[in-house]
Amino acid sequence: MFWKKDPSVTWERKHINNIDFSYLNVAIIGGTGGIGRAISRELAQRDAKVTVVGQTFKDEDLADKIKFVKADLSLVSECKRISHSDEIPYEKLTHLIFTTGIIASRQRQATSEGLEKDMAVSYLSRYIIFHDVAKRLGTNRTKKDDLPKVFIAGFPGNGQLGDPDDLNSDEKNYSAYATHTNTVAANECLVLDAKDRYTNIDTFGLNPGIIKTNIRSNLLGSNTYIGRIAEWIISWTFQSAETYAKMICTLIVNPAIESRSGTMFSNKGDAILPTPGLTKNVVEKFMENSELLVEKALQNQSPPTSSNE
Ligand SMILES: NC(=O)c1ccc[n+]([C@@H]2O[C@H](COP(=O)([O-])OP(=O)(O)OC[C@H]3O[C@@H](n4cnc5c(N)ncnc54)[C@H](OP(=O)(O)O)[C@@H]3O)[C@@H](O)[C@H]2O)c1
Repeated sequence: MFWKKDPSVTWERKHINNIDFSYLNVAIIGGTGGIGRAISRELAQRDAKVTVVGQTFKDEDLADKIKFVKADLSLVSECKRISHSDEIPYEKLTHLIFTTGIIASRQRQATSEGLEKDMAVSYLSRYIIFHDVAKRLGTNRTKKDDLPKVFIAGFPGNGQLGDPDDLNSDEKNYSAYATHTNTVAANECLVLDAKDRYTNIDTFGLNPGIIKTNIRSNLLGSNTYIGRIAEWIISWTFQSAETYAKMICTLIVNPAIESRSGTMFSNKGDAILPTPGLTKNVVEKFMENSELLVEKALQNQSPPTSSNE
């Protein structure tokens, strides 16, 4: 991991037990698995209001504290449904956290709307929902001392420049690595762009480093020998999702990050510098081509079949 610390942002670490989370109203897009799930459980047990969006709810023991909204966010149509859904209280949110993700598989996978699947799930879903809801985010929140906050998990600050001209991995020879690093660069650009685009919210990037979760299953297989060995090694070498989540919960309410939009945070919670090379022009290119890709996917949607056909 090659990120550099950003000395201009520091924060005083408080013990999580000494923090009041009861005023928080949080939605976690991708809160049904891995890191998002660990954050969701931590916050819900500390009396925050929590809504999670994902495919499969696994927290029945906290079903009275966590609201689950089911969606397949590989589809633009589903992302649009979620960004307009009354089930997620966007206007009341204090925090919106994006942790949806997969890793591109060895063979290119395409959605029914013609999108490369990793780009669709790990980046475009965030681009669509974030941009659709940003203007109304937190406008009706109860405590208005702080700006509403958006956190985008990825791998920022690590030097990935991506290729904005091949967002759908269909222009050049396909490689899982190039495709996934393109989602990494795009997510970092989403944060850098939001810093200037939205002054009504603070947007941050999160780099969790390596953590044992389900994220590698699309690449290595969900129950393969190599997948199990890889996760076993990771579990012994790196922090757990639960340890990381505890730290993130204390970060997202820390007053020192107020109005520090555009900051990225490392696996230890240190502020880190953005990737050199993700210039304004590159960020703009990513945003322009993201919009074009969303339009293309919308055109590819199969028209609804009439009932008398
Ligand atoms: N873990 C790491 O080593 C690592 C390293 C660097 C960066 N990150 C970043 O951290 C973030 C979280 O990753 P993670 O490790 O927590 O991954 P994870 O355990 O695989 O969780 C991913 C989340 O995305 C959801 N998701 C996947 N496909 C979806 C779909 N089609 N529709 C709706 N939701 C979908 C999953 O929902 P279901 O479980 O309900 O399917 C789950 O809630 C990602 O941005 C990832 O890039 C992770």
